[in-house]
Amino acid sequence: MTPQTTLLQTRDVGKTFGSVVALREVSMSLETGSVTCVLGDNGAGKSTLIKILSGVHPQDTGEYLIDGAPVRMSSPREALDRGIATVYQDLAMIPLMSVWRNFFLGSEPMKSLRRFDVAAARRIARDELRRMGIDIRDVDQPVGTLSGGERQSVAIARAVYLGARVLILDEPTSALGVKQAGVVLRYIAQARDRGVGVIFITHNPHHAYPVGDRFLVLKRGVSLGEYGKAEISREELTQLMAGGAELDELAHELQRNESTL
Ligand SMILES: Nc1ncnc2c1ncn2[C@@H]1O[C@H](COP(=O)(O)OP(=O)(O)O)[C@@H](O)[C@H]1O
Ligand SMILES: [Mg+2]
Repeated sequence: MTPQTTLLQTRDVGKTFGSVVALREVSMSLETGSVTCVLGDNGAGKSTLIKILSGVHPQDTGEYLIDGAPVRMSSPREALDRGIATVYQDLAMIPLMSVWRNFFLGSEPMKSLRRFDVAAARRIARDELRRMGIDIRDVDQPVGTLSGGERQSVAIARAVYLGARVLILDEPTSALGVKQAGVVLRYIAQARDRGVGVIFITHNPHHAYPVGDRFLVLKRGVSLGEYGKAEISREELTQLMAGGAELDELAHELQRNESTL
């Protein structure tokens, strides 16, 4: 096994939108071949954190380090160039287009080939999906005919194939039933086993715990802590998410104080 190295790290990052403090001094890290879960209810700041990580907007305060070097990114292109791929809930896929075409959508191989080798593209798509343990009978079928879980899986396989070192998934299991969520969790584990660092955003501790190596819990923009798996049980994680009432109060108070300043 290759030793783990730290891919990403934040140190006390903060982000404010007008008078709303979306994130306050949040620290987290992601190692190669591991899964860091970001948990929290609606409005916790999960999406804001991943937008900083994926270059959508830079942090206001604190540090963001990639491979140990501080960065301040201001475009998703920059993140992609560094191997940080983000799969959003509303996937950037075209339902009426075939699986294999979606697999190559917007990718360099597609652009660089003058006359795209359709047979080769089909074969690559099928092989890559299989490598991830995804069995799609017919890569010519429209993506729209796949289940939600399968669609997420194709997006994950595509990002891994395109060379993602970091894969950020914003609530990939939230809209899915138990069985479909299980399918996606399996592919998260597959990506991890291939050495990819995965950031898995969810509000469901039961989805996070089985695949997670580290757990960051956010509440109203405040970190309730980042824990290694050995440091927290599934029950404790669930309680932490459900609880945190005192912090809730504190966050409220801080927010009030700030808005009166
Ligand atoms: N672009 C924005 N402009 C203003 N407020 C925002 C913006 N993005 C997020 N927020 C606010 O920041 C807080 C955290 O939001 P978000 O990161 O989307 O939480 P989560 O993804 O955990 O539900 C919320 O109060 C939200 O309304
Ligand atoms: Mg969100």
